Amino acid sequence: MCGIVGYIGSQDSKEILLKGLEKLEYRGYDSAGIAVMNEAGVTVFKDIGRIADLREVVDYDVFASVGIGHTRWATHGVPSKRNAHPHQCETERFTIVHNGVIENYELLKQKYLKDVDLVSDTDTEVIVQIVNKFVNDGMVVEQAFSETLRLLHGSYAIALLDCENRDTIYVAKNKSPLLVGVGEGFNVVASDAMATLQVTDQYIELMDKEVVILTKDNITIKNLDGIVMERAPFKAMIDASDIEKGTYPHYMLKEIDEQPAVVRKIVQKYQGDSGKLTFDKKIINACLEAERIFIVACGTSYHAGLVGKHLIENMAKIPVEVHLASEFSYNMPLLPKKPLFIFISQSGETADSRSVLVQVKEMGHKTLTMTNVPGSTLSREADFTLLLHAGPEIAVASTKAYTAQLAVLSIVAEVLGRAQGFNLNIDLVHELSIVANAMSTLVEDKHTFEEIATEFLSITSNCFFIGRAHDYYVGLEGALKLKEISYIYAEGFAGGELKHGPIALVEKGTPIFCLATQEHVNLSIRGNVKEVVARGANPCIISMDGLQMEGDRYVLPAVHPVLAPLVGVVPFQLISYYASLHRGCDVDKPRNLAKSVTVE
Ligand code: AGP
Repeated sequence: MCGIVGYIGSQDSKEILLKGLEKLEYRGYDSAGIAVMNEAGVTVFKDIGRIADLREVVDYDVFASVGIGHTRWATHGVPSKRNAHPHQCETERFTIVHNGVIENYELLKQKYLKDVDLVSDTDTEVIVQIVNKFVNDGMVVEQAFSETLRLLHGSYAIALLDCENRDTIYVAKNKSPLLVGVGEGFNVVASDAMATLQVTDQYIELMDKEVVILTKDNITIKNLDGIVMERAPFKAMIDASDIEKGTYPHYMLKEIDEQPAVVRKIVQKYQGDSGKLTFDKKIINACLEAERIFIVACGTSYHAGLVGKHLIENMAKIPVEVHLASEFSYNMPLLPKKPLFIFISQSGETADSRSVLVQVKEMGHKTLTMTNVPGSTLSREADFTLLLHAGPEIAVASTKAYTAQLAVLSIVAEVLGRAQGFNLNIDLVHELSIVANAMSTLVEDKHTFEEIATEFLSITSNCFFIGRAHDYYVGLEGALKLKEISYIYAEGFAGGELKHGPIALVEKGTPIFCLATQEHVNLSIRGNVKEVVARGANPCIISMDGLQMEGDRYVLPAVHPVLAPLVGVVPFQLISYYASLHRGCDVDKPRNLAKSVTVE
């Protein structure tokens, strides 16, 4: 997803902008740029590639205390220098950076910019050209800015410079995340507090369709009707050390290693004074009043939802459906009178999930967001929020957020079951501490998984993951991990489904990872392994202590069966990490991917 950073103050802005963009790199991008403004006007530096490439083209002799920066994840227009932000209008008076998608940009181009030669393929350039046109037609800048914003259909986070108003940055937000940072003698704007945490930890949330007139000493927030909105700043709850790699070679390895601590922290955060797990009574009641729960999510969060369904149905006896957010809008299932929607989202900014949230809220339904980012869009716009407490997850491939989602889902299931008086015969606090210990064992044994990655994945272009029951869902997650960071084609299959088609893909040497942690299907899944071995597959069986059999490649420490996914996924995370590393891929920022996908 694109990232935005802006600074207005008395210091030179270049390094603040570049460091800010570096903190946003984890979101994924393919080009970057900054625009700095001083009495000589606005100077733009931009290029395709990484921030390191951008640094090569910046003229460090230019002193400018106002500037904006941008990392672009291409939507309209291929990744190129021409399409990189910042973009300028034809007179070069106005300069803009934008995160989001303007759905009606072609119509606006035809209606307002017939006689303007656009230099890029982007929707963003249309915005800045229209602002310029409206000013040339006689509007003052603020009015031209607001009138342009009124025309836009879609999402935007915008920072705009006007070289004739050098003491101001014009800011606007709709659906895409954007914060204003409050400083002493300066102010900043950023897509994420992480970008400018080094200069301030005080931030003001912006709401949809708000405009900000930002100077170094003043922050004026207005809605599109020009009404001033007062809002107090909040303290960003990010510990600077959380967003540093420290001695780790990659954020992903650090975040895999953090999982035992995250599970322990979640238990602590959700333990009430009595020592029992609990959370906001209003949320408990909303869940218990629901006739059916609909979990809506994408990617890894969707995979967590698949496990969450079984946790909630088994412990709380509430029917649950799990849906891909990107499909839900068009395939809306028949809803009961009282559904409850749970949005699982690490970033809390995923556009596919957010658009379903908007849709079901308009229908009057209750919504709960489970997210790792307090104050994120999905958190702010849902009726309720449950936090994952996993700490910032920087690597594009989600690891600790996934196991945090499973841990929180298990707590939701247990609390709802207990609230209904069910005898669950599980001491979840105790069982989650066993899970954390098991995870510690696995991350300490990471080089065994490096050996497995070498043994099974060095000379392959595809790989399959099979399992039954919970292990099938973890196999889907394992396949996603492997494909998204090593670019090996990987797919997860239900073990029993192989014979209905996928087994045709099995050739001599095809690596097949099999997870066997569920006693009631242990023999069945091993039967499936025999089927693929008979056709030449190279099996890697990862089982759980107590269920292991001759030939298993790795035996996981035993944990409660319903919590096995939290442990079963760790080998797949590590195997994927090492496969990516050995292939020379960019582990933390894999090609084509963004950490939080704010476009639909
Ligand atoms: C997971 O490794 C991926 N990065 C991706 O599938 C991610 O889970 C998905 O985009 C959903 O993101 P969210 O949890 O922030 O909504």
